[in-house]
Amino acid sequence: MAIVIDGKRMADGLLERVAADIAGRGQRGLPRPALAVILVGGDPASQIYVGRKLRACARVGITSHEFRLDPDVTEGEVVALIDRLNADPEVDGILVQLPLPAHVDANAILDRIVPDKDVDGFHPVNVGRLSTGKGHGLVPCTPLGCMLLLDSVVPEFRGLDAVVIGKSNIVGKPVALMLLERECTVTVTHIATQGLPEIVRKADIVVVAAGHPGLVRGDWAKPGAVVIDVGINRIALADGSTRIVGDVCSAEMDHAGALTPVPGGVGPMTVACLMANTLAAALGHDAERELQGAVRPALSARGH
Ligand code: GUN
Repeated sequence: MAIVIDGKRMADGLLERVAADIAGRGQRGLPRPALAVILVGGDPASQIYVGRKLRACARVGITSHEFRLDPDVTEGEVVALIDRLNADPEVDGILVQLPLPAHVDANAILDRIVPDKDVDGFHPVNVGRLSTGKGHGLVPCTPLGCMLLLDSVVPEFRGLDAVVIGKSNIVGKPVALMLLERECTVTVTHIATQGLPEIVRKADIVVVAAGHPGLVRGDWAKPGAVVIDVGINRIALADGSTRIVGDVCSAEMDHAGALTPVPGGVGPMTVACLMANTLAAALGHDAERELQGAVRPALSARGH
């Protein structure tokens, strides 16, 4: 049977470290980090995710500022709010929950957040820093969480075959870059890739972020492979109830080496990494040094 990687337990550990850092700063008379969270409209899933992020802030000692905007807010009004938060020295991090309504250009909004407050790591400057491996920009939370989960079971990444399924800016592309930085041989695939099962069968590491329930079947996994399931899909059951499942057929994953569960795998790590990123944003250029023991090792090749 595959090892089930306990994302909830790992997330709790990271949250405790972030909370301890913030408490230590408080004892030295330094202010709490502050995160502004912007939610446009009433998308039910987004409301749940934002609720989790706000609760995590309270748990670790981050001050949160919540902005719930009407679904018909104009792009200009969202931009004006971001400009105000960019200029506010008491705000360390700004997060705009996605998706945005169709009439608001998400790229224009994400580009407006100053890179040093971009705790989602979606600004082109931070994307560029990640892709060049230069500088210590803020990196997207879900891919960072995936890397920390992998780190708990993979002793050495160098030379391993990694297959990413999904090409989104939020998960697929950044996690592929992080795996490449750790010197994996990375294949990026997506739902239109031909011969996907054969490609996945070669992989030592599989990261699935395709948004297709049960896409990855048991016989796709190479024996011993580590499978990270980023999918969060709500499916209807015969009795009329619903259930959250991932992109992996977990019941079939007998011969994988390790697997993340859904729920309780990547999801809690995403929220914990957002807290770590908010602390990093508050620390500014000291972040690299102070977070050395927390998240940074996940991003750099060992021995380099
Ligand atoms: N919607 C789905 N995932 C994310 C995320 O990581 N950040 C934001 N801001 N919105 C999302």
